[in-house]
Amino acid sequence: MTTAAQNRPAGTGASPEERFLSTVHEEMAAVASLLDDEIRSEVRSAYEISGHTLRAGGKRLRPAALILSARSVGRDFPAQMIYASSAAVELIHMASLIHDDVVDGAESRRGRPTANAAFGNQISVLVGDYLLAKSIYLAAREGHMDVIRIFSKVTVGLSEGEVLQITMRGNPDTTEQTYFDIIGRKTAGFISGCCEIGGLLAGADRPVVDALAEYGQNLGLAFQIADDLLDFQGDPVVTGKPRCSDLREGKMTLPLIAAYRRLPASSAFKVRVSGWIQNPDALSETDAEAVRRMIEEYGGYETARQAAVDLVDKARHQLEASVPPSPYRDSLAALASYSLGRDH
Ligand code: FPP
Ligand code: MG
Repeated sequence: MTTAAQNRPAGTGASPEERFLSTVHEEMAAVASLLDDEIRSEVRSAYEISGHTLRAGGKRLRPAALILSARSVGRDFPAQMIYASSAAVELIHMASLIHDDVVDGAESRRGRPTANAAFGNQISVLVGDYLLAKSIYLAAREGHMDVIRIFSKVTVGLSEGEVLQITMRGNPDTTEQTYFDIIGRKTAGFISGCCEIGGLLAGADRPVVDALAEYGQNLGLAFQIADDLLDFQGDPVVTGKPRCSDLREGKMTLPLIAAYRRLPASSAFKVRVSGWIQNPDALSETDAEAVRRMIEEYGGYETARQAAVDLVDKARHQLEASVPPSPYRDSLAALASYSLGRDH
C-alpha cells in the first residue's frame, strides 16, 4: 500500500501537517533525532521492531502539541527537557499503537504491515512494553516530577480507555456518553497531557496551563471523532488502513451510535446491525456497505462531524481567550482545524 504522502498530487507542496509544523520545524527535527537514538537497543529485535514502528512515520501530533504549547506561552524554553518530554510522549504513543494493533488484530497501519502482522503478537506486546519503559526512563532521566506525574496519569487513562472500549465491544446499546468516556480517556486525555506539560515546562501560570490542557482535551476529542469518521469514509489508500475496521471489530463509534439510535425499533435492519455488532464475523463486504449507507441516510456522519466542529471551535476559542497572539498560537489553532479536515 502506498502512503498518504505518496498519494498527494504532485505540485501541491507541503502537507497540512508540514504547514502547521513549520513554526517548530527545528524543534521537531531535534525530537526526531532523539527518537532515533532512544529506540536503540543491543537486543536486535527490540531495535528492529521499534524501528519498523518509528519509520512508519505518523503525524507526531503529540510532540507537536507539547512543543507548540511551550512556545506559545512565550516564556522559558528549557530545550533539553522539552525535547526529552516530546520524544517520551511519542514513545508512549508508539507503544500504545503497537498494543492496540495486537488487541484489534489490525494488519496495516499507515500503509504498512503492523508490528503484529510483520513479527507476531508475542514479540510485539513485549516491544510495546520496551518502548513504554524507554519513555519512563527518558522522562525520569530529565528529573522533572510534574512531567512524570502527568505521564503516569495519561498512561493510566489510556489503559482505562482501552479496557472500557473492549468491554463495550459487541454491545449495540453503547451510548454516546460511554463513547465520549472512552475517547476522553484513550485519546483526548493524552493530547491534553501533552499541552499541559508544554505549558508547565515553559513556566506558564496555572490558569494558562489549565487552558492549554482544556484546549488539548477538546482537540483530542475532535481528533478521535475524525478518526472514527475516516474509518467509515476514508480512502484506504490514503488512510493506510482498511475501511469499516471498527464495525468489523464490533466497535460502536459516534457515527454508528447516532444513526443506530435513530433507526425505528421496528426496523428489520436495526436487528441485523445489532446482530453484526454482536457477531462481526457474520458481516460481509456488502453488509458493511449497507451499514455505511444507513449511517449516511440517518445522519450519523453529520452528527459526528458537527460534534467535532463544535469541539474544534471550543478549542480555538479557549486558545484565543488565554494565550497571547503569536505564530505559535496560530499553529496550535491550525492544528485543531487540521485534526478535523485531515484525510489520514
Ligand atoms: C488507537 O485507537 C489507540 C489508542 C488511542 C490508545 C491505545 C492504548 C492502549 C492499547 C493501552 C496501552 C497503553 C500503553 C501506554 C502501552 P483506535 O483503535 O480507535 O485507532 P486506530 O484506528 O488508529 O487503530
Ligand atoms: Mg485500533
